[in-house]
Amino acid sequence: MTQDELKQAVAKAAVDYIAPKLDSDSIIGVGTGSTANFFIDLLADHKTEFDGAVASSEATAERLKSHGIPVYDLNSASSLEFYIDGADEANERLELIKGGGAALTREKIVAAVAKTFICIADESKMVGILGDFPLPVEVIPMARSHVGREIVKLGGDPVYREGVVTDNGNIIIDVHNMDLSRPIDMENKINNVVGVVTNGLFARRPADVLLLGTADGVKTMT
Ligand code: 5RP
Repeated sequence: MTQDELKQAVAKAAVDYIAPKLDSDSIIGVGTGSTANFFIDLLADHKTEFDGAVASSEATAERLKSHGIPVYDLNSASSLEFYIDGADEANERLELIKGGGAALTREKIVAAVAKTFICIADESKMVGILGDFPLPVEVIPMARSHVGREIVKLGGDPVYREGVVTDNGNIIIDVHNMDLSRPIDMENKINNVVGVVTNGLFARRPADVLLLGTADGVKTMT
């Protein structure tokens, strides 16, 4: 199977997982990226079975709306049953690196609100220790150099992601060669650097369920 076929398989598994649990009041959080896009396209078949969605990016909001799925501001949603999103890396504890698509801050906010965070990923995303994928950090533009110097002190190699402005008007620094063997510690340390909006480690709030697309079928990890 190709990587896209695996992504489609986990997207379908996520729809099958949530659809029976939705009712006319349900609002769900929807992530960003190619796997999330497959999910949105399949979710559209069920759009009459739930109230609407909260999007983790402008791109996702546009895609949801293009299917006629109502999109709500998070502040007007009293609760979210599910958050469904992809990842750049996942480990066995369902801790993640996210933010390859630069949507990490809104993704982390929506994940924090959701009752159940379902991560959907193809098996290439599964790793023993997080960190081969450079860790995205969203940074207030005027703090770029300061944050870069602080990241070097924490042991990482910061690289400015050229030409990218987040939906929040900020920049992304990708951190290479960082020791992420203690993900919660590093998530906290990086977030404590002044000028950092947030980083792409999802360890304090990992996924609750990982639907992993493999050549032998979709594996459910909890
Ligand atoms: C966007 C993300 C995505 O979930 C992550 O980059 C995975 O993307 P894809 O599903 O295209 O492989 O965190 O900020």
